[in-house]
Amino acid sequence: MTAATSLPGHAQVGIVGGGPAGLLLSQLLHAAGITSVVLEARSRAGLERLIRAGVLEQGTTDLLTEAGVGERLRREGAVHHGIELRYDGESHRIPLSMLTGGKGITLYAQHEVVKDLIAARIAAGGYLAFEATVTDLQPGGDGPAGITYTHAGKAATLSCDFIAGCDGFHGVARQAIPPAVRREFLHEYPYGWFGILVDAPPSSPELIYARHARGFALVSTRSATLQRMYFQCSPTEDAQGWRDGDIWRELEQRLATRSGWRPVEGPIVQRDVVSLRSFVCEPMQYGRLFLAGDAAHIVPPTGAKGLNLAAADVRTLAQALVAHYHEGRSDLLDSYSGRCLQRAWRAQRFSSWLTTLLHTDPTQPDFEARLQLADLQHLTSSKAAATALAENYVDLARH
Ligand code: PHB
Repeated sequence: MTAATSLPGHAQVGIVGGGPAGLLLSQLLHAAGITSVVLEARSRAGLERLIRAGVLEQGTTDLLTEAGVGERLRREGAVHHGIELRYDGESHRIPLSMLTGGKGITLYAQHEVVKDLIAARIAAGGYLAFEATVTDLQPGGDGPAGITYTHAGKAATLSCDFIAGCDGFHGVARQAIPPAVRREFLHEYPYGWFGILVDAPPSSPELIYARHARGFALVSTRSATLQRMYFQCSPTEDAQGWRDGDIWRELEQRLATRSGWRPVEGPIVQRDVVSLRSFVCEPMQYGRLFLAGDAAHIVPPTGAKGLNLAAADVRTLAQALVAHYHEGRSDLLDSYSGRCLQRAWRAQRFSSWLTTLLHTDPTQPDFEARLQLADLQHLTSSKAAATALAENYVDLARH
């Protein structure tokens, strides 16, 4: 992409990481007349291929629209008004929109969001370098901040007023917060998700979250011809070690209903195993460095919150930077970490609750399984309980 030599030596905001968080931040800052440079370690093709979740809260859809990338999302995204909870051979619909005053979710894959953002940044002449490796961050203090990186075989330094660390869980940005200041919270779940992409029409008009003694299963969708399904597996499962027929048998068993429901089968075109973890880094800011998205927090995918939380961080950071540059105010920058962490922990609580509600822990006594069923019965018989689930599912990251 952009050659290192054509990147400026200074920007108001240096953005480490060109995933959805970094790109969206750059796009929002551009709209406010604030300059940024995005440094991304992967290639453009690699980034645009990355398969992740695809559930957008209303607030995320609104933010993407405000950032000027809402057009294809509105055309191709599918709005869902409910989800199904399935257990004990029965399906129960949670009418999300009815319970939340009309709010819903939009199914639109994360890599499509990334494609739209990259196209928008390039069309606006934004500085966006792929295959740029950040080697050192200087988070500054009273002085300017800096990012040292290599790109196209050359080493360079970007000086900036602020650094946004948007380089994900395995990125380098978080490491620039000294260990004496940084506190990390990590919980690893004793299971993973086996995910498949299937060439087939949708099995269900709405997402199905299933609890079964053999383990959790999830039916999701990508488009009219491409489906996404998951089932709980060992975190170290070898995705290639499974025959297609065995995958379908596993999904059928876990999703079976008394009325004989079966998933629509088709060629499995991609498969992967992800491990489930909860992670939070406190604080999310140090000197002139601000973390956003997976660099600061990871949620297990059950609550579908990862991308929504990242977008919410970026909205908060963009507002704070705009207040700084346009109004000379520093209060929103100063309170960034506290406000984002409150939301991150709310998402953590919801995601971990939904995860333990639906997964079978191999080491778990039957007592816990009975509690799961009692909780599910409560959710599917009490409007108050269902409303709490619906509010968190469609609208957690807005505030
Ligand atoms: C997905 O479509 O990939 C997906 C949907 C819902 C989740 C997680 C992942 O909770």
